[in-house]
Order: sequence, then C-alpha cells, then structure tokens
Amino acid sequence: MLNVKNLLLILGSLGLTVANAQRAPLDMTRVVGVETCADCHEEMFDAWNKSAHAKSFEELIERPNAAEMAAVLKMDRAQIPVTASCVRCHYTQEFLASVPQTTAAVSCESCHGPAIDWIEEHNRKSLSRSARVETGTKMGMLHPENIHLSSKACYECHVIDDEQLVNMAGHPAISDGFEILSWYSGEVKHNFLVNDGGARKSHSKVMQAIPMARQRMLFLNGKLLHLGYTLKAIASSQDPPVDKDGNFIRLSTGRYTYSVQHTIELKRLKEDIRMILKVVSVPQFTDALAIVRGLSLETGNSQEFEAASESIMRFSANFCEENDGSDLGGVDSMIANLKPRFSKSEE
Ligand code: HEC
Ligand code: HEC
Ligand code: HEC
Ligand code: HEC
Repeated sequence: MLNVKNLLLILGSLGLTVANAQRAPLDMTRVVGVETCADCHEEMFDAWNKSAHAKSFEELIERPNAAEMAAVLKMDRAQIPVTASCVRCHYTQEFLASVPQTTAAVSCESCHGPAIDWIEEHNRKSLSRSARVETGTKMGMLHPENIHLSSKACYECHVIDDEQLVNMAGHPAISDGFEILSWYSGEVKHNFLVNDGGARKSHSKVMQAIPMARQRMLFLNGKLLHLGYTLKAIASSQDPPVDKDGNFIRLSTGRYTYSVQHTIELKRLKEDIRMILKVVSVPQFTDALAIVRGLSLETGNSQEFEAASESIMRFSANFCEENDGSDLGGVDSMIANLKPRFSKSEE
C-alpha cells in the first residue's frame, strides 16, 4: 500500500517535495490597482512612485541583462511583463474589461494583498480601528500591524525560489545583502501614521520614524523569515550544494549554483542568529539555531530542509505573537549599524 509516508519518501528520493510551492502571482481578478489606493493615500503613493518597485515598470525590460535572460529563456524581452514566471515577482496584473493587463511593477497590493475583498471594510468609519485591522486581515489584507504576515511578502520575492531561472538564465538567487529593516527604511519607506504612544492613528503629511520597538521586531522577525525562506529555497533545489569532495559547485559561467548561493546565505544567517543570541534571550532563536545546527548542509535533503523551514516559519509567527519589541533593546546596537537601502538609481 502506498501510504502518505511512503509517497513522501518516493518524492523525496526524486528530489521533489509536496509543499515547496513557489510564490504565486497576485490573483488579477482581485486587484483594485494603485490608483484606488492613491485616492486616500497620496503621500504613500508619492513615496512608492519614486522607488525601484514602481520605476521597474518602465525600466526592467530596458536593462541589458533582461534581454540576455530573455534570450536564454527563448523569449522576447517584451514578453517579460506578461510571462507568469516573471510576473509573479516583478509585476501586478489587473483584469480590465475582461482582459489581463499589466498595470504596475511591484505595487501596493504586492505587499498589502489584493484588495477587492477588504477595500470596503478597510475604510468603514463605523468600525473601531482594531475591528478594521481584524476584518481586513481575515479578508486577506497583509496589514502592517501583523509583522509576521506583512514581512513575509518581502522574502517571497527577494529570496528567489526558482532554481532553473538562477542556474540557466543567470538571475540572482537572492537580493544581495537583503535585510528587511534597512531595505524598508530607504526608498521603500512610507510611514505617515503618527505613533501616539502605541495607538497609531492620525495621518500626517510628514514621513514618520519607525518606533524603536517596531524596528526591533522587524529586524528580529526578519532574520527568522529570511532563514525560513532560505531553507525553503534549498529544499526546492534538485542538486546538493557540494560535490563529493565537499567543494561548492560552480556553473560553467563560474558563478555558484542556486543551492550554493542559498547555502552561503544560510551560513551567514546562522552566524547572525548566534550574534543575536548573545544580546537577547529569545526561545524562538535558540530553537532556530538548534534546528540549523542539526542540518547536514552536504546532503541537500529536501524533506529535512522543508520541515526545518516550516518549523522556523511557525517560530516567526509565535515570536510576533509573544513580543512587541519593548524589552528587546539588546539588539539596538546591531540596528544602529544598518544603512537605509536606496537602489543605485536613487543614490
Ligand atoms: C477610501 C479611502 C481609502 C482607500 C481607497 C484605501 N485606504 Fe488604506 N486606509 C484608509 C484609512 C482611513 C486608514 C486608517 C484606518 C485605520 O486607522 O485603520 C487606512 C489604513 C491603511 C493601512 C494601515 C495603516 C494603519 O492604520 O496601520 C494600510 C497598509 C493601507 N491603508 C493600505 C491601503 C492600500 C494598499 C489601499 C489600496 C488597495 C488602500 N489602503 C486604500 C483609507 C483608505
Ligand atoms: C521569485 C521572484 C522572482 C522571479 C520569479 C523573477 N524575478 Fe527577476 N528579480 C527578482 C528580484 C527580487 C530582483 C531584484 C534583485 C536585486 O535586489 O538586485 C530581480 C531582478 C531581476 C533583474 C535585474 C537583475 C540584475 O542583476 O540587476 C532582471 C533582468 C530580472 N529580474 C528578470 C527576470 C525575468 C526575465 C524573470 C522571469 C523569467 C524573473 N526575473 C523572475 C525576483 C524575481
Ligand atoms: C514593498 C512592499 C510595499 C509596497 C510596494 C507598499 N507598501 Fe505600504 N507598507 C509596507 C510595509 C512593510 C509597511 C509597514 C512599515 C512598518 O512596519 O512601519 C507599510 C505601511 C503602509 C501604511 C501604513 C503606514 C504606517 O505608518 O504604518 C500604509 C497606509 C501603506 N503602507 C499604504 C501603501 C500604499 C497606498 C502603497 C502603494 C502606493 C503601498 N503601501 C506600497 C509595504 C509596502
Ligand atoms: C512582488 C515581489 C516583491 C515584493 C513583495 C517586494 N519586493 Fe522589493 N523588489 C522586487 C523587485 C523585482 C525589485 C527590483 C526592481 C528593479 O530594480 O527592477 C525590488 C527592489 C527592491 C529594492 C531596491 C533595489 C535594491 O537593490 O536596493 C528595495 C530596497 C526593496 N525591493 C525592498 C523591499 C522590501 C523591504 C520589501 C517588503 C516590505 C519588498 N522589497 C517587497 C520585488 C519585490
């Protein structure tokens, strides 16, 4: 009899796992579009409009490496904005007049969730703020109040989960140096809600600082999510990162393979978590480090990595439920060293 466990073993031996789903494209029938958000969130729109996320709409296909990648993938670069395997991270599509149309690059809804279901409740003045947050979240909004959910979006795109794209087409496997707090704090930042002692309510026309306790949460939870997505990326790989002599495997171009690039990231994150545990005591970090130490990097065993990834994602959710950052000041010196990230064209 082929029970579930045997099936998992067979899939495992084929280098496949059942749960290694890639980031899905936004459901275009549920996207309302940037213009709708801009009606009420003008300042956020202006900030977004100057960021690489917005400008990529015009710029991506004009880059020389876009044409090169397209050529390797046997497509014309004009197809990039309509090809599902690129759209899922690079673009936003809407269903307009019964026709799918690419209307933006990385848009409000790429990060806050497709809005068709929650947009009405979102602005319902008869509800309390907490009720709006709760109903919105139930209806699929990735609300910034929920740091676990809203931060996941970044990692789904910035930790690339497509092995062929990296190994064949030369796409980066990770955004070099990605770290959520610093990458949010530069050109992506659009905080205009005034923090009046916990209850962030009134809008301002002036960009607001991210409260310190929240910075700690973004930073710390980001490490767990980064680790979770990196393990997931390794789990989805068909190849182990090392050859039989234990050396990292390179492609014919000399670049490291997808699984090597993610393995190097894993080692870096392990070190980060070790450093973090020197300054704060958080059970989810102790447990995460124990799991990573138990993994054999040499095997490329997808089931083991998938299971590790799932545990760490749970740790992230628990960590965000149990903490608000107020007593995690031990990490402040690490945060102080981060530099807000601006893309090259902004610098
Ligand atoms: C009709 C006006 C309106 C529209 C349209 C609108 N919003 Fe809002 N939005 C608001 C108001 C008012 C608040 C503050 C409500 C509150 O305190 O919960 C808010 C809050 C938010 C917040 C959370 C800020 C907080 O309170 O912590 C996010 C994120 C957000 N909106 C995103 C969006 C996105 C994305 C869109 C487009 C899909 C959008 N909004 C469209 C009125 C609107
Ligand atoms: C899993 C998400 C994901 C998918 C799928 C994806 N990309 Fe990307 N891509 C990214 C991210 C994130 C960056 C930004 C990397 C960085 O920070 O430099 C990027 C960068 C790029 C760049 C610029 C690279 C550079 O070195 O400057 C090109 C060109 C590109 N992607 C093309 C494509 C094409 C073509 C496809 C589809 C065949 C595709 N991408 C699919 C996430 C993705
Ligand atoms: C790259 C992802 C991303 C994009 C794109 C994005 N947002 Fe956000 N947004 C976030 C994150 C993350 C936060 C919470 C930041 C924090 O923790 O303080 C946020 C916060 C907000 C807030 C609340 C501000 C506050 O002080 O908490 C509003 C309102 C909002 N976004 C609206 C928008 C609108 C409108 C757009 C499009 C014009 C947009 N966002 C595009 C990720 C994004
Ligand atoms: C839907 C996929 C997607 C999501 C979600 C996303 N990004 Fe990006 N991001 C990209 C892509 C693609 C680029 C490259 C755009 C380009 O240059 O063409 C990029 C570029 C950037 C850049 C500028 C590029 C650089 O190298 O400095 C920053 C900063 C950034 N993202 C931060 C974030 C943060 C922080 C979040 C979460 C709050 C986030 N992104 C969420 C896809 C995404």
